Amino acid sequence: MTIAIVTGSHRPKGESGRIGRWLHKKITADGQEAWVMDLSAVELPYWDEGMWGQEDLKDKWEDLWQPWAEKLRAAEGVVVVCPEWNGMMPAKLKNFFHLCSHREIGHKAGLIVTVSSGVNGVYPVIELRSHAVKNSKLCWLPEHLVVRNVQEMFQEKKPASEHEATLRERVDFTLKVFYEYVKALTLVRESGVTETDKFAYGM
Ligand SMILES: Cc1cc2nc3c(=O)[nH]c(=O)nc-3n(C[C@H](O)[C@H](O)[C@H](O)COP(=O)(O)O)c2cc1C
Repeated sequence: MTIAIVTGSHRPKGESGRIGRWLHKKITADGQEAWVMDLSAVELPYWDEGMWGQEDLKDKWEDLWQPWAEKLRAAEGVVVVCPEWNGMMPAKLKNFFHLCSHREIGHKAGLIVTVSSGVNGVYPVIELRSHAVKNSKLCWLPEHLVVRNVQEMFQEKKPASEHEATLRERVDFTLKVFYEYVKALTLVRESGVTETDKFAYGM
């Protein structure tokens, strides 16, 4: 299976990018294909009507978005690593979900991983669960991961604290569950029932 890992920080040296790369190593060590889309390094314009084909605006999307859209369509599962910024997801990640409204990630298993330098990280879980699925149609796992005190997490091969040791166990458990959801939802898409022009957008 192929897993897309999208990291949502705007900061090139942000912790979310580091966590995304750490997960990439873990997922590939589990024998899966994976790649990272680090939004701090990808310059995507904000959504405009070119995405709906408006003549004077549409050309740029061919170069800037379509290659990513194709990669996302080919992926079978999506991990979203989202920092908590002012109690929400950063604008580039919100924009990503505006762009993902044309069957790129629909009816695929999605795993939320949020990142906080302190003890927060729950606000973006709530935001992603409630505000990022209507048209993207990504199916979040009931399990999610919150990486608190991120600077101390996953730095060394051995866990530095009991909290980190438990979190590592939870990561292993959650990834196992995730892979099974990825397989199960592939069957759902292959059934053909999710294909619809009439109901392309959710209610
Ligand atoms: C603009 C901004 C706002 C932030 N707001 C919060 C916040 O509301 N809650 C929180 O726990 N951490 C907050 N942080 C700290 C991040 O949790 C911290 O930077 C962490 O490393 C994840 O972000 P990063 O991937 O950009 O590094 C904020 C950081 C930035 C840059």
